[in-house]
Amino acid sequence: MRILFYTGKGGVGKTSVAAATALRCAQRGYRTIVLSTDAAHSLGDSLGVELRAEPINVHPNLWAQEINALHELESNWGTVKQYLVDLMAWQGVESIAQGELSVVPGTEELFSLLQIKRHHDEGLYDVIVVDAAPTGETLRLLSLPDILRWWIGRLFPLVRNLLKVVRPVAKRVTDMPIAEDDVLASAQGAIDSLSEVRQILTNQEICTARVVMNLEKMVIREAQRSMTYLSLFGYAVDAVVVNRILPPDVDGHFAAWRAMQQEYAPLVDETFTPLPILRAPHFRREIVGAEQLSQLADLLYGESDPAAFMYRGPIQRVEKTDKGFDLLVPLPFISEDQVHLAQSADELLISVGWHRHRVILPQTLSRLHAQDAFFEDSTLRIVFTR
Ligand SMILES: Nc1ncnc2c1ncn2[C@@H]1O[C@H](COP(=O)(O)OP(=O)(O)OP(=O)(O)O)[C@@H](O)[C@H]1O
Ligand SMILES: [Mg+2]
Repeated sequence: MRILFYTGKGGVGKTSVAAATALRCAQRGYRTIVLSTDAAHSLGDSLGVELRAEPINVHPNLWAQEINALHELESNWGTVKQYLVDLMAWQGVESIAQGELSVVPGTEELFSLLQIKRHHDEGLYDVIVVDAAPTGETLRLLSLPDILRWWIGRLFPLVRNLLKVVRPVAKRVTDMPIAEDDVLASAQGAIDSLSEVRQILTNQEICTARVVMNLEKMVIREAQRSMTYLSLFGYAVDAVVVNRILPPDVDGHFAAWRAMQQEYAPLVDETFTPLPILRAPHFRREIVGAEQLSQLADLLYGESDPAAFMYRGPIQRVEKTDKGFDLLVPLPFISEDQVHLAQSADELLISVGWHRHRVILPQTLSRLHAQDAFFEDSTLRIVFTR
């Protein structure tokens, strides 16, 4: 089982690259599925096939699926959502707002990721290619299980204990909707599944992410930021893709664009080396259908296998020292003053900009205190002592 996760800024060519990659994997004999978790689907357009919420076979060895985010949300979070709606109705929240408020922002697409777990668990495919939503969205989704788990972990024991006492009484004396066990179980179940998805996606033996970009300043910046955050959340990146490179024979308007792209090309090399940099030119027209996707795959991968692990970088790890242990977190492209740390018992909260990563500390570290933190070759070394 191999999972390839394509992400990047809006419009850079994620869907095209994901579709081309999946097609090439299929052509090489892997049973492959490509699925899009972005609610604004364009995977079907790219493949030139009408897709559905369930996988359909689109080429020999290739299946494709446009996940219905709303359906996934209802079937995984519906019970909890209904309870929240009831609770809000009871408190007099307007009915239009109820629907809106009962969904944690961003969770619509979050539950789409459960389809990755489904395919992982069913084991019907050799390769799963994920066409993810634009970067910011995806990263937020990937950090959500952490946040939800934390929330549920803190809140639900309280609620449970409270309910043991209150429920029998409350049923009689108030008409406040009381969360039944099925609501709690359903919430817990959803969180557990999401945590498993995260475990699958952060398993470096299975999944690697590839960041797609174009030769434009803002896009490259965004790619750097995604690399930082992916690393922060423990996802491995094994290549970057530079798409839409203008060929030398353009003129007029596009000659100026090409000149600008050429200025940024060295920046990409300097920034992302030693990661492999896959390149594709700007095609003469939009990329639709198997023939053009196959051509794109030729240009990106040549004779090599897109499903291979293209690079193995440093990962989060714990090292023993004289005074205790160090936790090493690779965080490319940022400096010390952009990172903020906070520790509470068995958790370490690493904040980078508005992204926060809650690291549940391993046993060895949870009884120690984070004393110091500094950067060494793009890796944040956090020193724990007794
Ligand atoms: N190398 C290329 N040459 C020419 N056209 C391209 C190239 N790559 C992608 N395109 C075209 O650009 C458009 C956007 O590409 P695509 O849908 O793959 O981007 P995306 O990153 O998935 O966008 P979104 O963020 O909206 O999901 C499509 O019409 C696609 O055919
Ligand atoms: Mg897309």
